[in-house]
Amino acid sequence: MTAPLLEVQDLKVHYPVRTGWLSRRKLFVRAVDGVSFALGRGETLGLVGESGCGKSTLGNAILRIVEPTAGSIRFKGEDVTAVDRGGLHRLRRHMQMIFQDPYSSLNPKLPVGEAIGEPLRVRGLLKGRALAERVAELLTLVGLGPEHRGRYPHEFSGGQRQRLVIARALALSPDLIVCDEPVSALDVSIRSQILNLLVALQQRLGMAYVFISHDLSVIRHISDRVVVMYLGHVVEVADRDVLFARPLHPYTQALISAIPLPDPQAQRAKRRIILKGELPSPTEPLTGCPFHTRCPLAEDRCRHVKPALERKASGAYVACHLVPPAAAAAAA
Ligand SMILES: Nc1ncnc2c1ncn2[C@@H]1O[C@H](COP(=O)(O)OP(=O)(O)O)[C@@H](O)[C@H]1O
Ligand code: SF4
Ligand SMILES: [Mg+2]
Repeated sequence: MTAPLLEVQDLKVHYPVRTGWLSRRKLFVRAVDGVSFALGRGETLGLVGESGCGKSTLGNAILRIVEPTAGSIRFKGEDVTAVDRGGLHRLRRHMQMIFQDPYSSLNPKLPVGEAIGEPLRVRGLLKGRALAERVAELLTLVGLGPEHRGRYPHEFSGGQRQRLVIARALALSPDLIVCDEPVSALDVSIRSQILNLLVALQQRLGMAYVFISHDLSVIRHISDRVVVMYLGHVVEVADRDVLFARPLHPYTQALISAIPLPDPQAQRAKRRIILKGELPSPTEPLTGCPFHTRCPLAEDRCRHVKPALERKASGAYVACHLVPPAAAAAAA
């Protein structure tokens, strides 16, 4: 097997939080707390979980927009957490990020052609006619056409602006694009157009995506493999079809049970798992399973012993005491 494009090992990002100037206690939000996964070239890894579970922090840590507290991130064999500023500048040529809001992602005072060409110009890679040609090519790739290059961001719709942001992310021909909720701010009618564009661009250009979304139907549309996060932890990792056909972790089961079905009859017959119980404070160290305060199946040991992320018979990796390991399932 060839080395993965991206390999994240036991990554932690803890944010220090103020507790008032009289308090001597140092508190941390454990936004990402021991996450590991790998991503191959040209693949899409979906990252899903409720708001606040650490998805954006993880995406930002991959590009070192936030500094990891512990763990390693290997990109093309190089440890992103260990390189100096120059090394990071060099690596960032190959990793780009797309954010949720296409309105704040583009400078309103810059014609869009200049914004798209900026990464190439700033790095001194292209200028003059060659730069103009590349910008025209990028605009065409995202379905807008070169004639738009002199217009300003406010002249475009939300969906068109996200196309412009994608064009700019493609300028340096990256191997990886981290997409953080790239369609969440768009009208539902536009979402699938942008998702289909991302898929088509990947087929043509071969880059990998880490695709972050709180919306499982979006994740299902775009991912090859899915990582399910809960409170800074990975609770399940599986191939897309395996995950949706047979979710194993009680949290993944609850998330999937909440996806609305297009057929009203099937929707009525469906059993939705409603989660009760409190979310633990993100600044308190967890004991046991991170999901135990809301899990409908929690047992006594779940409160004390943290389940390891283990491979199961379906090929999925699951962190739950109640899901038997692959060897036990095979023997049964
Ligand atoms: N700069 C920050 N300082 C302190 N806490 C933060 C900061 N950014 C995010 N958090 C906290 O970290 C946790 C994870 O946030 P985030 O990564 O934005 O999650 P998601 O993208 O899944 O909604 C949340 O509890 C959030 O409040
Ligand atoms: S380990 Fe226990 S609390 Fe955690 S998901 Fe499994 S059954 Fe629920
Ligand atoms: Mg986020």
